[in-house]
Amino acid sequence: MTLIPFAWARRCAGLLRPLRCLVNHGWLRESDVDAVLALLHPTLRLNRVFARVTQRQWVADDMLELTLRTNGNWPGAQPGQHVQLFLERAGVRLSRSYSLTAVRPHGELQLAIKHQVGGRVSPYLLQRLAVGDVLELGQAYGDLSWPDAPQGVLLLAAGSGITPLLGMLRSALAQGFSGPITLLHYVRDHGQQAFVGELQALQMQYSNLQVRWSLTAAGAGAGELAGRFSVEHLAAVTALAQRRVLACGPAGFVGQVRQWWQAAELPGALQVEAFTPPVLSAGFSSRQVNLSFARSHQQVFADNQRSLLEQAEEQGLKPAHGCRQGICASCTCTLLSGTVRDLRSGALFSEPGQAIRLCISAPHGDVEIDL
Ligand code: FES
Repeated sequence: MTLIPFAWARRCAGLLRPLRCLVNHGWLRESDVDAVLALLHPTLRLNRVFARVTQRQWVADDMLELTLRTNGNWPGAQPGQHVQLFLERAGVRLSRSYSLTAVRPHGELQLAIKHQVGGRVSPYLLQRLAVGDVLELGQAYGDLSWPDAPQGVLLLAAGSGITPLLGMLRSALAQGFSGPITLLHYVRDHGQQAFVGELQALQMQYSNLQVRWSLTAAGAGAGELAGRFSVEHLAAVTALAQRRVLACGPAGFVGQVRQWWQAAELPGALQVEAFTPPVLSAGFSSRQVNLSFARSHQQVFADNQRSLLEQAEEQGLKPAHGCRQGICASCTCTLLSGTVRDLRSGALFSEPGQAIRLCISAPHGDVEIDL
């Protein structure tokens, strides 16, 4: 039930300043104020960002694009960033990060959700979330940005790695970027060619855009490449000289792109983002360690192979987290003693008081963290 229209709720953000002041001085509790505001409209809150679903559109067999309108507390975002989405299921608060595929004025944004088999969030979002439903959003995060490169841009995507790149591509084309752009998207089969209709239309509309697909399963058609990322593919689709490169996809794909880019010694910076949890850096044999959670007064046996986040959750703790990939920093925690290893690079950190990201750090020996 809503007592005021959504448009009024959006405009209320500025009018709530006196209430924020009272909360900041401790005269009101934010949760109490929010409970009353939510009666007026389900998106209305003092500070938290809530958004209403205005459109659902399937963009691949297993990927849905949602269009959302946020309340007046949305601070904005850049194309290519990600946002954390919160929902409550059976009394449990869950969160997942999704890439923004469009950022528009007046709090309108789009994000893409890929079905994760066995997941707790994506099946609900894909099958049950309806137009008009309300979700809570976190702050946008992520460092990918469209390069200032009139000489040209090469976009390399694998699977759902297309989503942040599409957000930037849409924005760059709309703003008149005129340098050559090549997008090469690796998908398993035709059913996973997300946004294929839109990308083909953009290719017709913008003569500087070339889009190619490579199918990693059998069945590549005319004009399509076959197989996983390879240097031969790059040679087939574009002249690489001077191109600025952005890559997004699973960690293995991003690692291959990085290796190729280093060997090719291309100019400029490579921008990459991996979508899956980091793969354990090789060369560390498995062993048991002591793991202490200082604030929770727990000491447990742990292993040196898995992330601190995973092992804390296994003990029933609920550390704040978002991306689980070392990007958003929401799982940052203080190392009190011992040594942790960065799962991506293998680098060791042992300075007491150092901030570490639980999702990409594994204990290297006995470790105490401020959790
Ligand atoms: S959860 Fe995002 S950096 Fe750890």
